[in-house]
Parts: sequence; C-alpha cells; structure tokens
Amino acid sequence: MNGGENHLKEYYANVIDSVGDGVIVLDKQGMVTLINPAAEEITGVSRRHAQSAPFSDIFKGEAILLEMVSKTAATGMTISDYENIVLKKTGHLTPVSATASPLLLASGEIIGTILVLRDLTNVRELEETVRQADRLSTVGTLAAGLAHEIKNPLGGIKGAAQLLEREIREDSELRDYTRVVLKEVERVNKIVDELLDLASPRKLALAPVNLHKILGDIIILQKGVFADKRITFQQKFDPSIPPILADEALMTQLFLNLIKNAVEAVGETGQIKVVSRVWSDYSMTQKGERRSRMVAIEVSDDGPGIKKEELEQLFTPFFTTKAKGTGLGLAICQKIVTEHRGMIKVDSDPGKGTTFTVMLPLIQ
Ligand SMILES: Nc1ncnc2c1ncn2[C@@H]1O[C@H](COP(=O)(O)OP(=O)(O)OP(=O)(O)O)[C@@H](O)[C@H]1O
Ligand SMILES: [Mg+2]
Repeated sequence: MNGGENHLKEYYANVIDSVGDGVIVLDKQGMVTLINPAAEEITGVSRRHAQSAPFSDIFKGEAILLEMVSKTAATGMTISDYENIVLKKTGHLTPVSATASPLLLASGEIIGTILVLRDLTNVRELEETVRQADRLSTVGTLAAGLAHEIKNPLGGIKGAAQLLEREIREDSELRDYTRVVLKEVERVNKIVDELLDLASPRKLALAPVNLHKILGDIIILQKGVFADKRITFQQKFDPSIPPILADEALMTQLFLNLIKNAVEAVGETGQIKVVSRVWSDYSMTQKGERRSRMVAIEVSDDGPGIKKEELEQLFTPFFTTKAKGTGLGLAICQKIVTEHRGMIKVDSDPGKGTTFTVMLPLIQ
C-alpha cells in the first residue's frame, strides 16, 4: 500500500470516528471490521473486543439487530427500525434507532453491511415530557394540584374520626357513623392517590414479563370474586409470544382494569374473552423498510357496548357512567400503555359488546 492510500484510509477512519452516530461495519462474512467510538459508547462493546469478531457473537442478545443485519446482507436492502430496539448494556437499557445498509462497491457488488445506531434516550425523554403534558389536560393538571390540597385536610378528618371512635362506647350505634367516615375517607384517599399517580411521571421497572401468566392469574382471581355470577371466561393465547420487556406491576394493573371493566359491563351473565396474538407486519417506506412488531392483547365482552358519543371521552380522567366508579381506570390504562410505547384502542357495538385492544412493542 503506498503512502497516499494510507493517508486516505486514516482520513476516512477519522471521519467515521468523528460521527456522532454509532457506526459498525461488517464484512461479507459478518465479521466486525470497524466500530467507531459512538458505537462503543452506545453498545458498551469496546473496539478491542469487537474488532474481527463475528457480529452475531458480540450481539447475540440483540435479536432484532441480528435479524436486520442478516436480512440486509441477504437482500441488499436498507432496513431501519426506530421503535423496537432497546439495547441491554450492563446495568441499563438504551433505546436506539438502527439502520442497516449494504456496503456497496461502485460496481454494485455488496462487500458488507453498515449499521448506524442512534441513542434515543434524550428523544424518548422529550417525547415523555410532551406526552405528559398532553395526557392531562389543563383540567387534569388542576385536579392533580387540588389532589395535593385534599390530602392534608383528609388526614385531619381521619385522625379526628379515630379519636372520636375511641371515645364512643363499643356497643354504641354511633360507632357505625365513625366507621362510615373512616371508610369513606379511605375511599377518597385512594382516588386522590390514583389521581396523583396519573399526574406524576415514574420510572418503569422493566424486566421480561410473561403476559399470559399475568392474564391467567387475573382471570382466576376474577372467577373467584364473581363465583356467584354466571360469567364465562375464554382465553386464547398465542404460545409463540415470548416474555416482553415491561413493568410487571403496571401490566397487572392495566389488564386488571380492563378485565374488571368487562366484568362490570356484562353484569350477572355474560362472556369475556381474552386473546393474545403477534402482529408482525413489514411495510415498505421510502426510507427503506421499517418494521413494527407488536403483541396484541384483546379483552372482549358481550355486555351492552358503549355509545358512540361516549367513546371519545372514555380515556378522560373522571369520565364514568358507574355510580361507584372513579373514571380513572381507563385513564390509568392509557398512561401505562403509552409509557410502554404501545397503543390502546376500543371497538364497540352497542347492544353486542366491546373489545379493548392493547398493543405493546415486542421487545425482549
Ligand atoms: N367493557 C366495557 N363495556 C362498556 N362500557 C365500558 C367498558 N369499559 C369501560 N366502559 C365505560 O367507560 C367508563 C370509564 O371506564 P373507567 O374504567 O375509566 O372508569 P370506571 O370503570 O367507571 O371506574 P373505575 O375504573 O374507577 O372503577 C365506564 O364508566 C363505562 O361507561
Ligand atoms: Mg373501570
């Protein structure tokens, strides 16, 4: 190699090292030939460790990346994924967007693959702020402020009722009244806590979660609670759905709210169906292929359905048609789903029934 060529090589290496995005170059055999500092930073894999090793070994835990790279190598297509990839570095998770493109010679011959990674942590945080602002309208924010104000006097009422209870003889009828006060205070407290929870951001405790187990447990629990009613539960789970990366407690709360709503909708007799399926649709966009793989969970009931004019208000905090409802159930569901970067939708046929569908990204 002559001096000029060497110089050029160094020049290009400097260019790639200076790029803010992570760049990983693979040869035709899938060996890493280059990894720039930004890619080292994003993936937590050092250049020393990666250079001349098979990409599939180094990133064996990152199924989506492996699939993208092998598909690009096989087809010569550029594939992008902006949604589904969360890299598991030791200790924490980094959401990234990735684009795999073929490395082409002027002749058109494919000699490798270029993978470009971008850290989306800041983007996600920004999105979260925007979502947060959206989620609670001005009214909601006001209510959340008010909730704080309610907590203090509520504490006072509770304390006073407890003192009063102590002063009243145990067999006195008056005890029934203090008991009502205390019970109702607890109820208001719970509503206020839920509202505060709805208004405040939180960190998700992400771990692999078996959705089928959660759904199965909720169904068993509900069957026990409503043993006296004639409600039949039907479950149809797609066994190919792997554990997904999610917050288990929030997933439980999400599906419990939906299944409870279904139970409340059917009344004394009815049928509730819980179905899971994988959605893998590949659609072409101008920028290349953008994949969205989601898992869909449907909770259907054959209750009275929801009026068209009510559909729009369903997810608004405090919208309820139930005497004892808070109207926070679905607002909470919506929050949980968006926090997991999923979607929730409702289809309802008045007179026939209702189906809520939750779609969650299939991140493992
Ligand atoms: N499966 C369903 N069938 C018919 N209507 C429903 C169904 N799920 C929800 N709704 C309607 O949406 C409203 C809001 O539901 P949401 O879960 O937010 O609050 P809630 O159930 O009324 O109160 P809470 O969840 O606090 O007990 C309900 O009052 C009901 O009118
Ligand atoms: Mg509810």
